[in-house]
Amino acid sequence: MNFKGKDIISIKDFSKPEINYILDYSKKMVDFAKGEKYIDILKGKVMSSLFFEPSTRTMLSFGCAMNRLGGRVIGFSDPGKTSQKKGESLADTIRMADSYSDLIVIRHPQEGAARLATEFAEVPVINAGDGAGQHPTQCLLDLFTILTEKKKIEGNKVILLGDLKYGRTVHSLAYALSLYGAELTFVSPKSLEMPREVVDECKDLGVKPVSTSNLEKSIRDTDVLYVTRIQKERFPDAEEYNKVVGTYTIDNKLLQNAKKDLIIMHPLPRLAEINPEVDTTPHALYFKEAFNGVPLRMALLSLTIGGEL
Ligand code: CP
Repeated sequence: MNFKGKDIISIKDFSKPEINYILDYSKKMVDFAKGEKYIDILKGKVMSSLFFEPSTRTMLSFGCAMNRLGGRVIGFSDPGKTSQKKGESLADTIRMADSYSDLIVIRHPQEGAARLATEFAEVPVINAGDGAGQHPTQCLLDLFTILTEKKKIEGNKVILLGDLKYGRTVHSLAYALSLYGAELTFVSPKSLEMPREVVDECKDLGVKPVSTSNLEKSIRDTDVLYVTRIQKERFPDAEEYNKVVGTYTIDNKLLQNAKKDLIIMHPLPRLAEINPEVDTTPHALYFKEAFNGVPLRMALLSLTIGGEL
């Protein structure tokens, strides 16, 4: 399989065999990601890290991945300190990054911005999250986490919980889990239900997701609980946010009804939707999930701009 020069904008750009290949390849990167082994297959390569929206994990793990492969990183995390502040267009910013680097990683608040960036860049562009659109590398690391913990993706009973309307990670993940034939339950407040087009995509792939607001009942026979934050920044109306924030909290009392091997995932950052008392239980996988972003992103960088291992 050849990913050299490929843009990574949406999980839908990949076939299932391609996803399997990336997940297998990511496994080979784990020891390097931990710093237990050393490689420099991207020595001399430069990655542009263009973050027009806040990030901790995606930005740092891409930077870590590039460094672990021997490459270098340029970029910004505060567009207010770039010439965007003087009115420069996104197109011209991308043209500059294209001429300064071998690959562009971009996070932007507007859906479609990463796809637009590909029109102005010769080098590969990786979407690190575009508004309420797609977050393909998060989706891949989530699949990698489920595969690593459960040994398979197909057949797992998965709850996607929280902000299913605006949450880009759950949109990508619902599609990808359907590709693998996972059993899906969508749990959210009524006003934050999964968009109809995402539900239809799942159905087109042969999965019949159940939609409910009852978490306590749904959690009993679940293998994977994927929790998301209610994203204040995506709400057009603060009143609407106030009505739904705090609807669901995962705590040890709720988990008394869960399977012993239930894993809890969260793309993070979390607010009050997971009580910190859960962090020390065997269910809590979210910090390991965040680490998995490093081997997964090392795999993507290596496959798109470097020689394979
Ligand atoms: N999961 C994720 O995208 O986290 P950040 O917003 O911190 O990058």
